[in-house]
Amino acid sequence: MEKVVILDFGGQYNQLIARRVRACGVYCEVKHHTTPLDALQAMEPIGIILTGGPNSVYDPAAPQIDPGVFALGVPVLGICYGCQLLAHSLGGRVVPAAGEAAREYGKTETYFDTGCRLFHGLPETGVSWMSHGDYMEKVPEGFTLAAHSGACPNVAIADEARGFYGVQFHPEVSHTENGTKMLHNFLFEVCGAKGEWSMGDYRANAVSQLREKIGDGKVLLALSGGVDSSVAAALLAEAVGEQLTCVFVDHGLMRKNEGDEVEAAFSQWKARFIRVNAGERFLKKLAGVTEPEEKRRIVGEEFIRVFEEEAKKLGHVDFLAQGTIYPDVIESGAGDAAVIKSHHNVGGLPDQVDFREIVEPLRLLFKDEVRQLGLELGLPAQFVFRQPFPGPGLAIRIIGEVTKEKADMLREADAIFRAGLAEAGLDRETDQYFAVLTNTRSVGVMGDGRTYDYTLALRAVTTSDFMTAGWARLPYDLLDQVSTKIVNQVPGINRVVYDITSKPPATVEWE
Ligand code: XMP
Repeated sequence: MEKVVILDFGGQYNQLIARRVRACGVYCEVKHHTTPLDALQAMEPIGIILTGGPNSVYDPAAPQIDPGVFALGVPVLGICYGCQLLAHSLGGRVVPAAGEAAREYGKTETYFDTGCRLFHGLPETGVSWMSHGDYMEKVPEGFTLAAHSGACPNVAIADEARGFYGVQFHPEVSHTENGTKMLHNFLFEVCGAKGEWSMGDYRANAVSQLREKIGDGKVLLALSGGVDSSVAAALLAEAVGEQLTCVFVDHGLMRKNEGDEVEAAFSQWKARFIRVNAGERFLKKLAGVTEPEEKRRIVGEEFIRVFEEEAKKLGHVDFLAQGTIYPDVIESGAGDAAVIKSHHNVGGLPDQVDFREIVEPLRLLFKDEVRQLGLELGLPAQFVFRQPFPGPGLAIRIIGEVTKEKADMLREADAIFRAGLAEAGLDRETDQYFAVLTNTRSVGVMGDGRTYDYTLALRAVTTSDFMTAGWARLPYDLLDQVSTKIVNQVPGINRVVYDITSKPPATVEWE
């Protein structure tokens, strides 16, 4: 499989570069800049991309590159810091930009030499996104200038013969006009890529690799019903079928029909599926508890206990599988990220269970690719596009004490809200939406009688990373319809409010 290596120098857009390359149909991997040259060579890349980074190349602590990279006979594209590093390493001179003249940040009008392979087929001028404080005072021998801006004569440099290019700006960000086309040019015109990376190939490859690795060993996967573990389960089921056991702990705090949906989707795979209905024991442990952190602790611990019991029943298992995805791996930085993750990404696996090895079949995929693979494997769309759901489930969406009655009430109201959004076609535009049962009761009037019932809060947010979020501007009519339906159909709720707080200062969940 043709492959591009992205050498990571600590830039904030590195994952974005990888996503853009893959979107061009070319498989790539992000590697730490300290990756030894022989390991790099062994990957047989068709091209190498050097990322941006926060440093200056003349800073003694700045990350360096093995000059051997430039002797591999492989095309190299340096972006921002990567460009300066390329220039610095090949005999150019990079200095701090003197004054405003060559220091550029943000959108910059840029003029391209469209004779350069990197800029073939592009308009001669366009906006590019700059973010650099250093300046290439002298470009290395063999290089020509391929783009300039009003302030800077060498926004891009090129050595067409060797296939070496450097750009001071960030082609991977959407603010750079035609940035993806530039990356496409590098991949296809310079590196000679064929663009054969497809999810179908990934699936076939992953299945054969998993079969080879697992042999006739037994695999255990803790299935939460979330996207990542569901797709991992589906892939493993295809690869090793009956050698796989998926354990799904239903803690009774899932959304309406969710446990049954997980079961229906997974019991049709060849793999063994164990659903543990543990609702009663979770509710028992939660009885009388109102403090949010305590609720989380109790649910987490009980999950471990149930899992321990199930693992013991299964006897010896060789492999533990988990749905770690690529951003988890990259975010962990250098080193063996997979092992670090195994301690806290498994959702409460007991230490006592002895596994020969950890299997992470999605560790090279981004979230959107995981979803694509899920569809490819035939997982129902409601799994593949599932919004995040917190591990403690409804326990942290019921303010105050958690009881079965309250959980049932919330499940019904939440289902009405979610259905309303879906019917209005707003479910894919809103990143997370759910109902919260508050602990406040208020007076209402229904029919001719007085009610003194719970207030339900609706929450819908838009976000890209869940670190910050805005409240979704849902149409009043939709809120009106949902509110009416909930109050009419869910006994115990007589008032509905809509949460109009962003994160920060609020959080997405109420507890
Ligand atoms: P907050 O409430 O912190 O939530 O703004 C951010 C995102 O994280 C989800 N969340 C959790 N996910 N276990 C999880 O797997 C948890 O304990 C948990 N708590 C919050 C939340 O639903 C939102 O998507």
